[in-house]
Amino acid sequence: MKTIIKNGTVITAGDSILQDILIEGGVIKALGKNFPEYGCNIIDAKGKYIMPGGIDAHTHLDMPFGGTVSSDDFFTGHKAAAFGGTTCHIDFALQSKGETLKKGVQDWKARAKDKAAVDYSFHIAVTDPTQETIDEIPSLKDEGVTSLKVFLAYKGVFQVDDTAFMSTMNKAAESGMLTMVHAENGDAIAVKTKELLNAGKTDMKYHSVAHSEAIEAEAINRAVSFVEITGAPLYIVHIASGNGIEAVRKGRRKGLPVMGETCVQYLFITDEALDQEGFEGAKYICSPPPKKEEDKKAIWEGLTDNTLQTIATDHCPFWFDGTKEGRTPGKELGKASWDKVPNGVPGIEDRFPMTWHGAVNSGKITPNKFVELISTNPAKIFGMYPKKGTIAVGSDADIVVFDPNKKHTISAETHHMNVDYNLYEGTTVTGWPEKVLVRGKLLVDGEKWLGEAGFGEFVFRNTHNDII
Ligand code: URP
Ligand code: ZN
Ligand code: ZN
Repeated sequence: MKTIIKNGTVITAGDSILQDILIEGGVIKALGKNFPEYGCNIIDAKGKYIMPGGIDAHTHLDMPFGGTVSSDDFFTGHKAAAFGGTTCHIDFALQSKGETLKKGVQDWKARAKDKAAVDYSFHIAVTDPTQETIDEIPSLKDEGVTSLKVFLAYKGVFQVDDTAFMSTMNKAAESGMLTMVHAENGDAIAVKTKELLNAGKTDMKYHSVAHSEAIEAEAINRAVSFVEITGAPLYIVHIASGNGIEAVRKGRRKGLPVMGETCVQYLFITDEALDQEGFEGAKYICSPPPKKEEDKKAIWEGLTDNTLQTIATDHCPFWFDGTKEGRTPGKELGKASWDKVPNGVPGIEDRFPMTWHGAVNSGKITPNKFVELISTNPAKIFGMYPKKGTIAVGSDADIVVFDPNKKHTISAETHHMNVDYNLYEGTTVTGWPEKVLVRGKLLVDGEKWLGEAGFGEFVFRNTHNDII
């Protein structure tokens, strides 16, 4: 069956053109005008923007963490992603201690396979960096996995030392793979945590003190130095600190192959959200936590001057009240103290419309830059371009028909994420994904869900990673 999307303005990272799209066999067959319509599904997109589906390069669906498991699985998370205009994401498979990286990837492929409703791929998190693990890295390409993550935080859980960090970077680079890093100093966090708890400081706001701007910036500065030392490319995830951004900027000005990601929550939320009466602040506990107004400003600057290349979510939702029937334990695990609150926030459904609203409607970035940050750059950096990340002949027909005038008030009452709160509760955005297609199949039509579990495909990624 062929589909024609007509009369819309097609927006890519490069241009905005009033043209029609012919879709056949799940891919874009032609772009142009006056396609014969006989026997085709017709989507009239007059007055709408047609953009490539969002790609969220950083998510944690169905992830065991913080004494529980994130509350969205590969079906609920995918349905929410689709409603929010995201048609593909890259999740983190975890290596278990004593196990191979390949086993981690295969476990996560099994978690996703029968549930997936949009397309997905995996990075692998290196948590047990023995010599065997390091030697195994190049073989992951056979699994379609070409990026690895190390954590410099979460001491005693995921944290690796500098030897492991450097060995991973070197080995990955040898085979054209990309290392990613969670850059906060886990040792410093552990010392600060002990100090705070010994002083009886258990309120939610102390999470921000233990995970301070300086603690993030130190690790980012170290990570950028490691790029200089090794020459290996590095992608720094979820950057929230102004000084961290400055370190990336300086590294890039020297010509180092370092790239930076920020997340949608850091564009809108500050540490004040953690400093609220009672337990409310727990909703915003993630690592790194949102920082000050000046850091937010630095993030916007980093996005506009190309210091940062992507906006992801780090979607890792936990119920605010996980004690209710049918729920996994959630934020309430930390009622007694901030350090026991599972780290992570929801956002997979909100990223696309919130960023459009905050960035494009306000004139901070153009619609083309929006597409670049939300879709094209993640596809390029992670070896999925031009199959994903653009609207071009031969690309997968992953498409958002976006109504730039539709107003929508974001709320946990109406969102599709499997979590009982929304970071942007009550925010009315202008601009909303009206129809969402993955490989030519209409998954979302207004409020209607037409997707199904098992439709989503694993994206086998290339090693080719553009340094953007
Ligand atoms: O708080 C966060 N970010 N949770 C998810 C795990 C991670 O650090 O990315
Ligand atoms: Zn992280
Ligand atoms: Zn994460």
